[in-house]
Amino acid sequence: MKNILITGGAGFIGSHVARLFVRKYPDYRIVNLDKLTYAGNLANLADIEAEPNYVFERGDICDFEALRSLFARYDIDTVVHLAAESHVDRSIVDPFTFARTNVMGTLALLQAARLHWEASAGGYGGKRFYHISTDEVYGALPLTRPDGEPPYGEEFFTERTPYAPHSPYSASKASSDHFVRAYHDTYGLPAVISNCSNNYGPYQFPEKLIPLFINNIRNRRPLPVYGRGENVRDWLYVEDHARAIDCILHSGRTGETYNIGGFNEWKNIDLIRVLIRTVDRLTGQPEGHSLGLVTYVTDRAGHDLRYAIDSSKLKEELDWEPSLQFEEGIERTVRWYLDNQAWMDNVTSGAYEKYYEEMYRGR
Ligand code: NAD
Ligand code: DAU
Repeated sequence: MKNILITGGAGFIGSHVARLFVRKYPDYRIVNLDKLTYAGNLANLADIEAEPNYVFERGDICDFEALRSLFARYDIDTVVHLAAESHVDRSIVDPFTFARTNVMGTLALLQAARLHWEASAGGYGGKRFYHISTDEVYGALPLTRPDGEPPYGEEFFTERTPYAPHSPYSASKASSDHFVRAYHDTYGLPAVISNCSNNYGPYQFPEKLIPLFINNIRNRRPLPVYGRGENVRDWLYVEDHARAIDCILHSGRTGETYNIGGFNEWKNIDLIRVLIRTVDRLTGQPEGHSLGLVTYVTDRAGHDLRYAIDSSKLKEELDWEPSLQFEEGIERTVRWYLDNQAWMDNVTSGAYEKYYEEMYRGR
């Protein structure tokens, strides 16, 4: 590997992957291609932007001609594909944007990689297309032990679980996974896929549960809990996901899928109580101070009840497992958002989007 294209590197997970790769692999050239949608923010990468092995390119993965010239210009041999529309609630309001970016964008990227690599001297030798996907493609699991300790059911998603997506977001990600597999099976493209559970940590856009609620608690705004707060998610610290991606990129078997998860199930309402306790403590408020902000609201349409990942294949084959205890991860995360109020204010005010409009005007 020499020239790695990371797509979506200005987003939440992509910025952690870009940072890890730029620092760990000084001999690789890391090309970050990102459209800078509302979710992309170059401030997430401020600490690596001047590194000699890092390049940023603003562009759309749906622009096939631009992809062709990018592959040629940098002689890309490896793709780590994270660019996507990623928020379930937005997909319910605007499914077309999700189909465009997640399905057609992935297809354009696959085709650009295929054409560039098939025409290169070594063909597919030494090439790799790594597609980052989600556990939501598997649908939802039942809650068979709702009042017990986690895990909240006997079933888990494994790599053999049939696809059954419910939201427009997960349908678009499932479709992109199928196209990646089709390119592997039809053309021999050296592809690998991973499906991960819910990530949390610094630089997550505050439309997602954890950063949204930390910010609302701090600003004494209501905390909109969907339904009864009984839905279960499996949470993984984002740097552990980035480490898993590094591991699979280098050692995962071509044509395989790997599930990545934290073995860390939480009912939303229990997680929200932990967030409240942590923010109150770190801001010097008495215990229970912000519990009254909890507001039960209409449930998300088609809200998946429970996600739970079995990532034992990754443990057994590649010896990866989460490194961080959840308590420590949440403490770190809450502290980061409290200490980086300027980042949060910039993102919630939309100031960074106006800045990009100015910066890229006319290009
Ligand atoms: P994000 O929304 O924070 O970032 C997405 C990035 O993609 C942004 O920088 C955005 O500007 C860019 N982008 C969007 N459309 C683009 C386009 N057409 N062309 C180029 N760039 C474009 O998302 P995230 O949470 O970091 O998720 C990254 C990937 O990981 C996604 O593919 C998502 O499906 C997957 N994933 C996310 C989670 C999670 O918990 N967040 C879990 C499992 C898998
Ligand atoms: O499982 C992996 C997926 O996790 C990723 O593929 C997605 O990109 C990522 O956004 C995430 O999806 P979720 O829908 O699970 O994440 P979100 O943070 O939006 O919601 C987490 C849970 O909290 C979910 O059950 C809905 C609930 N929720 C969310 C918000 C934003 C609320 O109750 N209130 C809220 O305001």
